[in-house]
Amino acid sequence: MKGKLHTQSEVESGILELLGIKDMETAAHCVRVGVYTEMLAEVLYIAGYENHALKRQSPEELGAAALLHDVGKLAVRKKLLKRPGCLTPKERKELQQHTVRGEDILRKLEKHDRTLRFEMARELAVFHHERWDGEGYPRGIAGTQIPLGARIVAVADVLDALLSDRCYRRSLSFSRAVQMICQQAGAQFDPGICEIFRECRECFSPHRAGQYGGEFPNKEKWKDCVYGNSKTIKRSTDYRV
Ligand SMILES: [Fe+2]
Repeated sequence: MKGKLHTQSEVESGILELLGIKDMETAAHCVRVGVYTEMLAEVLYIAGYENHALKRQSPEELGAAALLHDVGKLAVRKKLLKRPGCLTPKERKELQQHTVRGEDILRKLEKHDRTLRFEMARELAVFHHERWDGEGYPRGIAGTQIPLGARIVAVADVLDALLSDRCYRRSLSFSRAVQMICQQAGAQFDPGICEIFRECRECFSPHRAGQYGGEFPNKEKWKDCVYGNSKTIKRSTDYRV
């Protein structure tokens, strides 16, 4: 699919194709979340944010693993994925199951391919709806108990959701989306990640991405933008690490 920064393996491409057959919008969302995840991880890496974790998994690998964060939606009824308006509590519970269904699917894949990539993908699939304040699902873990990768995907996931038309609402402006994410710092999201995201939000703006000649930035040009802005990104000593 167009716009990826990282390379997709055959397994990832195959899974995305299956997701696309079920629901094209879910597959496109996964690709965009993969891109935003890599971008955000790169910015955090420059800022020195929890670098011990980002050294274990490069921004590129994390972006590729994030492609599969919603793979569990393969196990959710299509009607539910496309349903406009509010879900009943029972339906919401069913939809939330995509986290653990994704974990199950990826654990099986991991048995055949013991690379860090699938281990990471499994972690992202199960934990990307956890919240910093512990009010998320499926496990209700909080703060740094949530793996860093999943905290990054949580922001990337919501950023793309807010910037996209959904069957129940229209897309929001980029500035409104940034504002809504930053309002959730310390509640839904890791406050340190939100702070760095806010500082270099321009690098994520679709307007700026459009300047690179596509829906998403060309990797090298985007890196120029990030590294050009890196002087404004505070170093790790300014943040909790
Ligand atoms: Fe999800």
